Amino acid sequence: MSEKVYDVPSEWAHKAYVDDAHYQSMYAASVKDPDAFWGEHGKRIDWFTPYTKVKNTSYDPGHVSIKWFEDGVTNVAYNCVDRHLETRGDQVAIIWEGDSPDESRNITYRELSSEVNKLANVLRNRGVEKGDRVTIYLPMIPEAAFAMLACARLGAIHSIVFGGFSPDSLAGRVADCGSKCIITADEGLRGGRKVPLKANVDAAIAQIPEGVDHVIVVRRTGGKVDMTPGRDVYYDEAAAMVTDECPAEHVNAEDPLFILYTSGSTGKPKGVLHTTGGYLVYASMTHQYIFDYHPGDIYWCTADVGWVTGHSYIVYGPLANGATTLMFEGIPNYPTVSRFWDVIDKHKVSIFYTAPTAIRSLMQAGEEPVKRTSRASLRLLGSVGEPINPEAWEWYYRVVGEERCPIVDTWWQTETGGILITPLPGATKLKPGSATRPFFGVMPEVVDAEGKVLEGACEGNLVIADSWPGQMRTVYGDHERFEQTYFSTYPGKYFTGDGCRRDADGFYWITGRVDDVINVSGHRMGTAEVESALVAHPKVSEAAVVGFPHDIKGQGIYAYVTLMDGEEPTEELRKELVAWVRREIGPIASPDLIQFAPGLPKTRSGKIMRRILRKIAEDQFESLGDTSTLADPGVVEDLIHNRQNKR
Ligand code: WTA
Repeated sequence: MSEKVYDVPSEWAHKAYVDDAHYQSMYAASVKDPDAFWGEHGKRIDWFTPYTKVKNTSYDPGHVSIKWFEDGVTNVAYNCVDRHLETRGDQVAIIWEGDSPDESRNITYRELSSEVNKLANVLRNRGVEKGDRVTIYLPMIPEAAFAMLACARLGAIHSIVFGGFSPDSLAGRVADCGSKCIITADEGLRGGRKVPLKANVDAAIAQIPEGVDHVIVVRRTGGKVDMTPGRDVYYDEAAAMVTDECPAEHVNAEDPLFILYTSGSTGKPKGVLHTTGGYLVYASMTHQYIFDYHPGDIYWCTADVGWVTGHSYIVYGPLANGATTLMFEGIPNYPTVSRFWDVIDKHKVSIFYTAPTAIRSLMQAGEEPVKRTSRASLRLLGSVGEPINPEAWEWYYRVVGEERCPIVDTWWQTETGGILITPLPGATKLKPGSATRPFFGVMPEVVDAEGKVLEGACEGNLVIADSWPGQMRTVYGDHERFEQTYFSTYPGKYFTGDGCRRDADGFYWITGRVDDVINVSGHRMGTAEVESALVAHPKVSEAAVVGFPHDIKGQGIYAYVTLMDGEEPTEELRKELVAWVRREIGPIASPDLIQFAPGLPKTRSGKIMRRILRKIAEDQFESLGDTSTLADPGVVEDLIHNRQNKR
C-alpha cells in the first residue's frame, strides 16, 4: 500500500463546487436527513409532476423495496435534451470520434433532439410502447446514444448488450427480457477491424423460439448483410419516413429506464433494473460534483455504452447536465499508442475518465508517446472499474496529468447506478490506490464474516447500510434473486461483493471481489459462466475457473479442466477450448490459461475447493491452508506440479 498523500491544491479548493468543510457539512446533512437532502437535490432535474414523497426504502429481509420520488412524473430524454434547447441548443452535446482519426462529428443539442425524436418515431411506428423492452447491440456510434434516449422518450426499457458478446450471450439477454425489437448496425469497427454485428443478431434470433418482430439496422460500414423482409429495416430508410417530433411520454419516477445484464457469483447474468427519477438525479449530481463539471468543459469517458459506466457517465449524467460529452468508437492503441492523448488535443478535452487496465497497457509503451502530445487542456483525471495499483496511479498523475490534474478514483457497480465512493477534487486529499470517501448520502460500513460492524481502521467486507437514489430496484423478473444476492449475506444491508480496508483517516481502499466474480480488464465475469461454457464442450467433463493476478488486465482467467475419459490433453485441444469459450460468451471471456487436471480438489461431499485453486493460480503454494479435508489430497500435488507457467 502506498503511503503517499496529495493535498488538495488551494486553487482547487477555491474553484471546485465543494471544498472539504463544505463536503463535511453536506455529507453530514445527507445522512442525517436523507428526505430533506434528496428532496432538495431531486429538483436538479425537471419534473412534469413534482414529487411529494422522497425516500421510501426498506432493506428488511423478505420485504426489500426501494422507491425514490415515487409520485413524481418526468422523462429522462426530456431532461437530457429538450430542456437544454432554449439555453444551449447550438452547444455541442456529443463529440463523436471515430475509429479512424480522420472521422469525427459534432452533434449539437438541437441536432441531438432531432435525431432522438426521429428514432423514437421509428420505434413508435413499429409498435414500441411504454414498458416494452428494446435490445440495443450497437458499436460506439452516436446512434447508440440516440437509441437510448429514444427509448427513454417513449418510456420503453432499453437493454444494451456490449458488441463484444457472442450470439449466444445476446440471445440469452434478448430472451430473458422478452425484447421484440433489436437495434443494431451492419458492422462495428474497432482498431480497423470489422465486427459482424448484424450477422450475430441473425444467429442470436435463430436461437430464440419466439424470434423478434423488428430489427433496425444502422449502416456503419456499408458492409453487405442479410436482411429479412418484413422484420429488418435499415435505419436511414425508416428515418426518412418520419418527422423529428415525438412527444415525450410522461413517466413515473419508479418506471424502469433500463436493464443491464451483469455477472454474479452464480447462474446466468442477471438483468439489473434501474428506474427513472432517482437514477437520473443521482447520475447527474455525481457527474457534476465528482468531475467538477462546469459549462465549457469538454468531458470524455472512454467506456463503452455496453457497460454501466457508459450509461451513467457518457450519456445520462453528462447530458442531464447539459455537458459536452465525447464518444470514442476506437481503442487506445490504434492507429498508435498516442491515440488517447491525440484525441484529447484534437478536441481540447478537459476531463478524462478511463480504466486502470488502459493506463497499465499504455504505461508499457513508455512516456514518449504521451509526451509527444500537449494535453494542455486537461484539468481532471478519473479512474474506474477495478482497484488502481499505486504505480499506475502515479504514472497517470505524473506523466499524463503532469502533476496538475487531481485523479478521482471512483468506486461503484452496475447495481449502484452511479459512483458511491470517490474523492471530490476540491475537497478530498488523494492517496494513490484509495477510492477515499463516500459521496453524499452513501453510508458504507465494513463488516466481518459474521456481519459484525467494524469500527475505525479495519479490514473486511464492504456493505452499504441504507439506500441512495441511484440504486438498482430489482433483478428483472426475479425479485427473489435480488434479495438473495444482495440482502441475505448481511441481512438489512446491501452487500457489495467487494472486500475493503478503511484506514485511520476513514478512507476506503477497495481490495477486490470476495465472491466468485472476477474482474478482467475492468469487465465483470462470473466464474460459473465460464465454467458452464467449458463443460458444454463434448470433450470436457469438469471445469473450475478462478482469477489470477495479471499485469495488464488486473485479473486473468485461469481454467482447470478435466477431460472425458480417453481424451488427450493436447495443445490443440487447449486452443480449441479457448476458441470455444470465445464463441459461447465472447472474446472478453477467453481463458488466459488452461490447465488440464486429471482431478480437482474436492471436499468429501464433492464441493470444489476454489480457495486452493486460487492459491495455485496465484503461485502461492505455501499458503494453501488446510488440505486434510480433501477427498484426495494427492490431486493438489499434481496441480502444483503442472501449474501453467506461461504468463
Ligand atoms: C470493481 C463498474 C476498485 C469492484 C462501474 C466492483 C472497483 C466492480 C472500482 C463493479 C474502483 C469498480 N476501485 N474496484 N474505483 N470501480 N470496481 O459492475 O470490484 O462493471 O464491485 O461496474 O468493479 O463492476 P461493474
